[in-house]
Amino acid sequence: MNEEIFQQLEPSLPPLIIKDKKISVPIIQGGMGVGVSLYPLAGAVAKEGGVGIISSACLDRLVSKRTGKKHNIYDATYEEISLAKASPGFVGINIMVALVRDYEDSVRAAIDAGADFIISGAGLPLRLPAIQHPGDTALIPIVSSARALELICKKWERLGYRPDAVVLEGPLAGGHLGFRMDQIDLESNKLENLLPPVKDMAGKYGDIPVIVAGGIYTHDDIVRFIKMGANGVQMGTRFLATVESSASALYKKAVIDAKDEDIIVADKPGSPCGLPFRVIKQSPMYQSSLKRLRPPKCDKGTVLLKDSEGKFTRCPAKESNEHFFCICNGLLSSAGYNSEKEEPLYTVGTNASRVDKIESVKTIMDELAGKTLVSASSQG
Ligand SMILES: Cc1cc2nc3c(=O)[nH]c(=O)nc-3n(C[C@H](O)[C@H](O)[C@H](O)COP(=O)(O)O)c2cc1C
Repeated sequence: MNEEIFQQLEPSLPPLIIKDKKISVPIIQGGMGVGVSLYPLAGAVAKEGGVGIISSACLDRLVSKRTGKKHNIYDATYEEISLAKASPGFVGINIMVALVRDYEDSVRAAIDAGADFIISGAGLPLRLPAIQHPGDTALIPIVSSARALELICKKWERLGYRPDAVVLEGPLAGGHLGFRMDQIDLESNKLENLLPPVKDMAGKYGDIPVIVAGGIYTHDDIVRFIKMGANGVQMGTRFLATVESSASALYKKAVIDAKDEDIIVADKPGSPCGLPFRVIKQSPMYQSSLKRLRPPKCDKGTVLLKDSEGKFTRCPAKESNEHFFCICNGLLSSAGYNSEKEEPLYTVGTNASRVDKIESVKTIMDELAGKTLVSASSQG
């Protein structure tokens, strides 16, 4: 049999070191919510020498459904991290600031469960180090500019903490974007142009490792950014349609079928979080929202805001159905949760049009790490 195997000739990427943790392949798999990056994907990436990241979004719903037992957000987060940590390697969690109601409980559970990393964006995680002493857990903000990094460093300094690393996410990423609609295509906002000032700022605050994200797809892309001064990369879309990803079969098919022109940034109707959000335009929920066919059936409340009495009851999608889609239901449906009742919403990075098949994490990690494909028969 002419089996194809990967062979590492020499390690071609330098390790990434964060808070004394030596990550042999400098690739962080980006958190993908809702329910795409759960323990099977995170554990598989960790096993191959990268960092596996769980998404904290709606874990209470997802874990309760999987186990048939009601879990609150703390218990569900603790459970998911513990399962991922059963694999060898480094595992962390992505906790979005925009998930206001669950934010602090998610952080506490992640630290208590021994997550190696908490990566936090979709808003500025200004209070993250104040929630609980992180112990061995590294705290990593996501920023889109040097200015945002400076704000965070100044605030964290007053809390007696310094970011253990920073993720710089450019405008080609999936999910919510840290740029206004009119800033997305600016030359100055290309990842390669954002990197030098962020690298300088990271140096000013003590050589904080910089991880770049958004539009990185191949081994050569990784090498290029490392040569430019990045310490590592974070990649989402490349892992979206893997065997181990928990996206539904329909979601993976939509990614494989997506062409360049199908990938758009939704603004109005857009995410109730108020940030531009990249989607496949054929996503059933997006299409219904455009035609205003879908009144929000909010029963999830993950992005709820406080009302005048301080209770989490408000959602922009409930208040202005014309301008916002019901993101919790749409994304839960894309992860196969209530998909028979709810319309899915497929978020992707710009590179989704390059994904043409479902692959295993091992195949992708071998390729990204620069291992060479050889035929077993040629091994002698
Ligand atoms: C399906 C999907 C879901 C995502 N969900 C989140 C999320 O919940 N929180 C977050 O901070 N980033 C999220 N992202 C961004 C990724 O973590 C990652 O940084 C980004 O997609 C990198 O760009 P790439 O997809 O071109 O590799 C998501 C991306 C995708 C594709």
